[in-house]
Amino acid sequence: MNIGLTTPILPAGEAAVAAAARCLAGGGLVGFPTETVYGLGADAANPAAIARLYQAKGRPSFNPLIAHIGDIEAARRIAVFDARANALANAFWPGPITLVLPKAIGCTVADLATAGLDTVALRLPAHPVARAILHAFGGAIAAPSANLSGHVSATTAAHVQNDLAGRIDLIVDGGAVAVGLESTIVACLDEPMLLRPGGLARDEIERVLGRALAVPPGEADSHASRPLAPGMLTSHYAPRTRLRLEADSVAAGEALLAFGPAHVRGVDAAAAVMNLSARGDLAEAAANLFGYLRELDVKGARAIAVMPVPRHGLGEAINDRLRRAAVGR
Ligand code: TXA
Ligand code: MG
Repeated sequence: MNIGLTTPILPAGEAAVAAAARCLAGGGLVGFPTETVYGLGADAANPAAIARLYQAKGRPSFNPLIAHIGDIEAARRIAVFDARANALANAFWPGPITLVLPKAIGCTVADLATAGLDTVALRLPAHPVARAILHAFGGAIAAPSANLSGHVSATTAAHVQNDLAGRIDLIVDGGAVAVGLESTIVACLDEPMLLRPGGLARDEIERVLGRALAVPPGEADSHASRPLAPGMLTSHYAPRTRLRLEADSVAAGEALLAFGPAHVRGVDAAAAVMNLSARGDLAEAAANLFGYLRELDVKGARAIAVMPVPRHGLGEAINDRLRRAAVGR
């Protein structure tokens, strides 16, 4: 076990990047910022490091990881790109989209990292600190979100510390992330398919493809109540406090997660109030979502009343995460 390690936090910079690369090369675990959420990185080619990573997160090991790469050439050594995958990579990388692709012959990503699948999830992140670490390390970095399994994703270094200090080797602090939602996952195996809504809105992807994204089998009738990407458990994002969705009022003792400028009945008796975006901006709401859920979760409220959030653009992913959080653990 990694428990008992002291976990230094280094401010992003040359020294931190070099320390992160050294740590990864030695089989260590590094929390680092990406533009979507903080990742918990390990050498994707090192099965022992991947095993430690699953252990540190307390994550079921059948859940495959995203391999992060620093450039498109590295991506092509790991996976096979068809015309549509090429179009998406050209349009959106570096950026908040993950492509699930067939493994290339000679793919060096450890079987444990892909949970034994013959496909691999790849992402080229846009965050300058993530890119610097990838370049200094030189190989693919397997990185799930840097939170304990079952918690919401970390969007600041302090969140990473709260969940994982003592369990990992290093945290690189690059400040709060810009996007705040995990990457959108699209499988390009047959028809491009949306496996997870996320930080890149569906309509932008469909505009590049010139067609609608396919729906995973089973999703149309289940309303996201079963795993889309393997391991994408319904309750994956749950805080401890119960969530009450689509609230148009707040009861005494409840906390309020607001959206937009509208006044809400009962707000004066609320245990706590946070507004995802008072001006109704979905990108701002996405960036605030996980941090605000963490903050409201420790207010001792009876429940967290959540105002409706529009479903277009990034609202699709925000509503997806809220629905999962509302299911509880
Ligand atoms: O924004 C993100 O994607 C962040 C940052 C750190 O890059 N990472 C992230 O990783 O959210 P994680 O492990 O929390 O979520 C990865 C998702 C899981 O739901 C997993 O099941 C899915 O990707 N996945 C990974 N490999 C897959 C594959 N070969 N086929 C289908 N789904 C896969
Ligand atoms: Mg996660």
